[in-house]
Amino acid sequence: MTELAVNPLQGRRITLAVTGGIAVYKVCELVRLLVKSGADVEVAMTEAAARFVGPLTFEALSGHPVAVDQFSGGMPHLALTRSDTDLLVVAPATANTLAKAAGGIADDLVSAVILGRACPMAVVPAMNDRMWANPATQRNAALLRGDGVAILGPACGALACGVEGAGRMLEPGEILAHVRRLLTPQILAGRRVVVSAGPTYEPIDPVRGITNLSSGKQGYAIAEAAFEAGADVTLVTGPTALAAPVGVHVVRTDTALSMKKALESAVAGADAFISVAAVADWRVRAASTHKIKKESFKGADPVLALEENPDILHDIAHANPQLYCVGFAAETEDVEQNAQKKRVRKGVAMVVGNDASQALGSDMNSVVFAAEQGSLALEGVSKREVARRLASLLAQALDARGPGSRNAA
Ligand SMILES: Cc1cc2nc3c(=O)[nH]c(=O)nc-3n(C[C@H](O)[C@H](O)[C@H](O)COP(=O)(O)O)c2cc1C
Repeated sequence: MTELAVNPLQGRRITLAVTGGIAVYKVCELVRLLVKSGADVEVAMTEAAARFVGPLTFEALSGHPVAVDQFSGGMPHLALTRSDTDLLVVAPATANTLAKAAGGIADDLVSAVILGRACPMAVVPAMNDRMWANPATQRNAALLRGDGVAILGPACGALACGVEGAGRMLEPGEILAHVRRLLTPQILAGRRVVVSAGPTYEPIDPVRGITNLSSGKQGYAIAEAAFEAGADVTLVTGPTALAAPVGVHVVRTDTALSMKKALESAVAGADAFISVAAVADWRVRAASTHKIKKESFKGADPVLALEENPDILHDIAHANPQLYCVGFAAETEDVEQNAQKKRVRKGVAMVVGNDASQALGSDMNSVVFAAEQGSLALEGVSKREVARRLASLLAQALDARGPGSRNAA
């Protein structure tokens, strides 16, 4: 089984080539994020990039001297990517540098580093929308893609030149997420994984409702880990305060019934369903369409009539026998036994028992992965670690079952 490292960036060597566009200022933040994540980052800049932000800023952020001049001594164009460099990232990538990279031109330090690289490369284009849409740039991007280069973005949005369009550089946090994926073994490549997360919200009237304390953190971390491991991920979420994970299709729902409907269509053709959402057991039988007035009870205690919600995990597992289903169980005692019992009761492949007293809202968790073959406990670990362990177990289980949707595309 391929175990995913908890942090794919820890100790990894990244060379960052910075070229001359307005977005250079955002790449300072990217260096900070990469270094904070444990990567060793070396920066090379074009002469044009150095006119936007001085090399000193990148030196301070990366902790290494920054190379701009290829004739400054030695052979920096070869030294900057070596056999132990894990990834070369070009950000921002100008139209000019994309053209040179596609054509194999090496007339300055950065283009020579690109041509002489001994590692995979990702480019993050950033330019005016007309420059990006120009057939020459599109041809160059297609050539690079064909050469196995990862092209990250660009996004649509407000551009520095004052117009809206395609050409905007991905945000530093988005680039970081893609770099994490590029440095993670692609053990879920070709798999479609559906994750549910967060609480549900059952309305009482238009301004009040019943919900629970699920933060969504564990489910979002699982969606993120599955994306990093190469899966095509759909996250069906109840209301949370969390940002959508990069690269994941997010479907927002509120009630248990709307979550069930969204999940039923999301799991069509999927390989796995990881049910992490804390779905309300009951909903209000007749939610009011107008705000209920306090006075309307005339001093009597209000009574809410509830009716049972469907058991989403059970129903989806039974309607889709080919789907590898994983449930989560929040327990306060006998976590392993209760998780195994729940697994059998729901008829699913695995149930992850959480210690409810630790899990709610926290970044940490203690879990037991309860499967038919046995149980595996993880004590006091981050939700991200739980997620990456689950991605490894999932890949192993899906591989044991056969190719699945890998052949469907
Ligand atoms: C203010 C200003 C902003 C620029 N922004 C961009 C940009 O975002 N994207 C781009 O491809 N070129 C941009 N350019 C043009 C490049 O700087 C120019 O093509 C340069 O030759 C690129 O050199 P390099 O690829 O070696 O860094 C900009 C130029 C100026 C003066």
